[in-house]
Amino acid sequence: MTDQGRSIHSPCTRDQWWRDAVIYQIYPRSFASSRGPVGDLPGITSRLDYLRDLGVDAVWLSPFYGSPQHDAGYDVADYRAVDPRFGTLADAEALIARAHELDLRVVVDLVPNHTSWDHRWFREAIKAGPGSAERNRYMFRDGKNGGTEPPNNWTSVFGGPAWTRVADIPWVAGTPAAADRQYYLNLFDSSQPDLNWDNPEVHAEFRSILRFWLDRGVDGFRIDVAHGLVKDPALPDWTERTEMLDAGTDPDHTASHPVAPERPPMWDQDGVHEIYREWRSVLDEYGPDRLLVAEAWVQPEERLARYVRDDEMNQAFNFAYLTCPWDREALRRVVEESLSAMDAGGAPTTWVLSNHDVVRAASRLGLTVTGKGPNGIGPRDPQPDAEKGRRRARAWHMLTAALPGSYYIYQGEERDLPEATMLPDDVRQDPAFFRTNGAELGRDGCRVPLPWEAGKPGLGFSPTGDTWLPQPADWERFTVTREEADPDSGLHFFRRLLARRRALGLGIGGLKDVSPEVGGLAYINSAANHSHPDLLTVTACAQPVPFPAGWRRRASSVPFDAAAAVIPPDTTVWFTR
Ligand code: NOJ
Repeated sequence: MTDQGRSIHSPCTRDQWWRDAVIYQIYPRSFASSRGPVGDLPGITSRLDYLRDLGVDAVWLSPFYGSPQHDAGYDVADYRAVDPRFGTLADAEALIARAHELDLRVVVDLVPNHTSWDHRWFREAIKAGPGSAERNRYMFRDGKNGGTEPPNNWTSVFGGPAWTRVADIPWVAGTPAAADRQYYLNLFDSSQPDLNWDNPEVHAEFRSILRFWLDRGVDGFRIDVAHGLVKDPALPDWTERTEMLDAGTDPDHTASHPVAPERPPMWDQDGVHEIYREWRSVLDEYGPDRLLVAEAWVQPEERLARYVRDDEMNQAFNFAYLTCPWDREALRRVVEESLSAMDAGGAPTTWVLSNHDVVRAASRLGLTVTGKGPNGIGPRDPQPDAEKGRRRARAWHMLTAALPGSYYIYQGEERDLPEATMLPDDVRQDPAFFRTNGAELGRDGCRVPLPWEAGKPGLGFSPTGDTWLPQPADWERFTVTREEADPDSGLHFFRRLLARRRALGLGIGGLKDVSPEVGGLAYINSAANHSHPDLLTVTACAQPVPFPAGWRRRASSVPFDAAAAVIPPDTTVWFTR
């Protein structure tokens, strides 16, 4: 960042609504249910007014398509259908229509790296046998040593081998395919076979799926595992562990989390970009206001920036920010790197602290070591300091809301919701828990159904009171009922935060790093068209920071005694002149 500060004066037309949008992630299984233990689309529609009142601009829905749910819907059996657990296609259309009435955009999830093993294509491939056109839609290979060993040594992101023998698929037993010795690639669960993106038929199918949902009025797509679709054609052995996070190189050792020394053969191959160019032109047929956002765990930031070139996607999730430790210098570095990498191509930066795959920020930040955090926290693990975690999460959110770019919030974050850290093993459902024999607890703790109403069974999540994962006993305090009644609750904090962000035009300002002069982590955000006063945001991480001279305190992440004119640790304060 220069002394003059970084200029982010890109025009924010309605067409490019995402540039400064606040986008709220809904995890349909766990948001709200109109029927029973699993959340559904009518449940979501019934709570859209709540989201409009919160002040968000758009919702992103994790998958709700036809699926056996071996990976909570990221195993899609029918991309053009709504799973009966979640409702019907008419429910999806009603949700989109109601959201639009409320001026909320709707982004849906697209899962192109793999299908479910229940997808018609995969069933056909198994039946048609080796060498068939049907098998060529997936990554089938003969095993080594006469079929006794997998084609290479890759491991699955969820643990265990990344290759499954056809004969080992449970539903193949007793069919002619039981004698089949081929293997198929599954970078995730065995129930999620990887598609073959060298096959034009796969390209055509996904263009058609995009059109199917665009025709129903969706405003964009979040692309699952966007860095994984194309593999090194030689399928070379890879001795490192296969982790989503490893998808890149870090020659200068400046990345905010560990990455592999070389680019892994399953991630971030150059061929993926051709696919996104194709999709960009499909979306453009529907107008300039349709969004593609990449889930791409790619380092360094310059590689990530390739996904958001002019003719590709519009945004990529900023996982370097999410995994950053709660540390002044690390945060300064990641803010600077994120802005400079994206600025180069004119794409807006995104800011994200939580999602359905990581320990919730309000708990992650209460651990002794902050950063990406473990894959789940259980009753036998050291427990986070709840008060510290909540306080830091609010401080980080208040810093984030002052940064230009788009801002993603995961359901429950707006109520300070922590991770459920006491789930017993026998309720866990994440395939990562089973595939690592419990060595990794997995992501269930951030997916527990939301509490809504105090005094109701299941805290108002469903009319029956049933929830597919048990809610912690003390979650009544995170219901809307309780939080509405407390002016210092997360809900009131977030409503005020988003309203101020909008009023001050912060999503699109120019940003200047004034940390050295002011102390702490300090930025001045100046509105693009000078229509609003400058805002100075100051975050104190470990050390207290004196109030800056000549500025007036406007809001803080937590109430504190301001008589000493000092910002206490783990606190953010906004100032105006
Ligand atoms: C990333 C998704 O966010 C995660 O939930 C899923 O398990 C994997 N991709 C596989 O689709």
